[in-house]
Parts: sequence; C-alpha cells; structure tokens
Amino acid sequence: MSFNPFKERGIPIEQQLRSWSELNVKPYNKKDIHPYTKARIILMNGVEVEGAIFSHQFSRNCDNMELKKQLALTRRVEQQQQKVINWLSPGDETPLETTIGYEQVAVDLTAFLAMNVPDKYVKQVFDFGLLEDFDHLYRYSNLLQMTEGMKAEQLVGKLTEITPGRPTKLEHRHAFDDIRKPCDRKAADPLTKLFVLTLVAGEQQTMNFYMNLGNTFKEQVGRGLYLEIAQIEEQHVTQYGCLLDPKTPWIENALLHEYNECWLYWSFLEQETDRQVKNIWETHLNMELSHLQAIAQIAQQQGIDPEQVVPAQFPKPLLFASQIDYVRDILATQVDFNAFDTEIGPANKLPENPRYAKVQSILNAQGVPSEDVVTANMKKSGIDYRLELAGPHPVQELRQKK
Ligand SMILES: [Fe+2]
Ligand SMILES: [Fe+2]
Ligand SMILES: [Fe+2]
Ligand SMILES: [Fe+2]
Repeated sequence: MSFNPFKERGIPIEQQLRSWSELNVKPYNKKDIHPYTKARIILMNGVEVEGAIFSHQFSRNCDNMELKKQLALTRRVEQQQQKVINWLSPGDETPLETTIGYEQVAVDLTAFLAMNVPDKYVKQVFDFGLLEDFDHLYRYSNLLQMTEGMKAEQLVGKLTEITPGRPTKLEHRHAFDDIRKPCDRKAADPLTKLFVLTLVAGEQQTMNFYMNLGNTFKEQVGRGLYLEIAQIEEQHVTQYGCLLDPKTPWIENALLHEYNECWLYWSFLEQETDRQVKNIWETHLNMELSHLQAIAQIAQQQGIDPEQVVPAQFPKPLLFASQIDYVRDILATQVDFNAFDTEIGPANKLPENPRYAKVQSILNAQGVPSEDVVTANMKKSGIDYRLELAGPHPVQELRQKK
C-alpha cells in the first residue's frame, strides 16, 4: 500500500493535547499480552523518549524564538504520547520481566534490521551488537529463574531463543573500539537512516532503563548484572550513534525524527493484534503526520527539500518477527568477532589489541556478575536456563553442560 506522509491529513497540532484520564490508559494484562505487542510498546516508548530528548537538545541549540515555540509545542505532545505508551505496562510487571522484554526487542529488532539493511558496513555493526544483546537475554533469564523461579519462555513465547551469545564478560572493550564510521546522509539509502535512528532510540532507552532501575534489585548478584550490562548498553549506544551522519543539520535531523515516528506507527498499525494498542498507533500516526508536515514546511523555508532527505512514499514496514534461523547463522559464524577502532572481525584478522586486554583485566579482575549469575542459577536449579528451540547450540563450545 502506498502512503505519502507529506500528503495524508493528520490531526491539527492544536487538537492533539489529551486529558489526564485519556493519558492514564488501562494497562495490558501481563499474562495474555502478545510478546510482540509488548515489543512494539517497548520500542515506541524508546522512540518517543528519543523524540523528546532530541527536541530538548535542538531547542537548547536554537536561537530562533519562533522555532523554539514550535519545538516546545510538539514536544509537549511527544511527551504525552510517551506517557500513554509507557503507561500500558502494568504495575505488577517487575523491572526484571520488563528487562527480558527489552532484550527480546534488541534481539528480534536488530536481527530484522541486519537482514534488511542495504549498507554492508552497517549490517556488520548490527550483527556485532546482535550477539551481545542475545547473550544479555540469556544472563537475565538465568537471574529470573534464580530469583523469581520463573522461566523466561513465559515472557518471550516460543519466538526468540535463549542461550549464550558472545559472552558478556568478553564484550567489555576499550572505548576507542566502540567508534564506528558514519553514514553519508546524502548517499545512504533512506532505509539505512531510519534503521539506525530506530536502533539508537531502542538501545538508548535500554541504557537509561538499566541506569535508573538496576539498583532497585535486591540480590547483590542481580545488582551487579544490571550495572555490568548497563555499561555494555553504553557501548552499544556509542557504536550505533556513531553511524548517524554528524553533518546532519538540526532541522534535517528533526525532519528525520518525525518521519521515523510516522513510519514506525504506520508499520505497527498494520501488524498490531491488540485492539486498544492498535487504536493508539493510529491516533499517534495521525498526530505525527502533522508534526512531520510542520517541520517539513520550516525545512523548506530554510532551503531544504524534505523529499531529498526522506522519500515521499514510505519504504517497506519494520516488522517484529521470529528470527531464530538468522540469529543461529550469525552465532555460528561471528560469535568470536571483536572490534578494533572502526573495524569488526575475527580476532586473528584484527591488529593486536593490548588496550582490550587491559580493559578486560581491570574490569573482570574480581569476578564477573554475568558469569556469577549463571553459576549461581546452576547451583540452585541444577542446570543453566536455556530455551533452545531449533536444536543444540550452533557453537560446540557453548553447548549445555551439567
Ligand atoms: Fe511522537
Ligand atoms: Fe542488551
Ligand atoms: Fe544493547
Ligand atoms: Fe512527533
């Protein structure tokens, strides 16, 4: 279906504010929500948070009073959208249950993006991060079983496997090795730009979530796991953020943000199975159309042609789908990859890297929570927790041991 977001009629901005009672939505039932409805909620919450924070940064760097007003007006709405979405999560969902959802999003989203991204280097960066978030899902699932006696398959359904990826303890690198080469915004396929921005928003939300809620955990090993993985999410936000073109003017960046929101709501509206949530995607799409058209008008006044930045017809939609075979393939071929500067590859194809060894020896000097949590769960449950749906682990050394 073709859809031109510059032409479709949205809700006028002055009609977008909603009352407290409309914002305070009825949360979903955690026992029967579809894992991918939850995934869409988690991702769109992250995208709206990025929308609001980006707009604040833009405003702080903007000396045009009229534009500042416009940004504040739109941002107020972005903030309401974020509340509606995040308030769908019920009060009886624990931070650890939400965390499993965050890592499931990271896995199935990153895999979809890696499979579909036109740029080879960006694909390599996505595949690299994919195996790390995949491992986080395994570590947190072991924490869940150990502390709450709950199996993570109740949360992820049979859509995402849970088993070791690139072991988290090996992910801790020197900060220089998180830097990646930027895309060229003029040469890059629009889909590449949208994919990168979406993943940055998702990973940034995960980083913020662990930064702020990791300390609400009672057991010491769980507190350690959150802080350790929070530091990896810092690395992920750095590496994905580097892919964005730093030469993008603020106004063009704002246009890209609004377009991305439109495109994502439009993508999810098609797929959504939950009626209440589908209505929210529809309402928000209609709001975003006005945000996009308003910013496109300002861009035009500044001599930027919006259709040179993003296409008039939406590219194909972003989908949440089970990616078991793809993840297994990347596991089998790239689990031992590492990074040096902006390059990613097997350790024997990269230059010698003493700074990696040094960081490893400092951070992992007195035990590693991501290892301890699995050992502790093995002690308690007899065996580590896994959800291997398509056979034994594709990497011999990572197969399950008693
Ligand atoms: Fe928004
Ligand atoms: Fe992660
Ligand atoms: Fe991540
Ligand atoms: Fe927006």
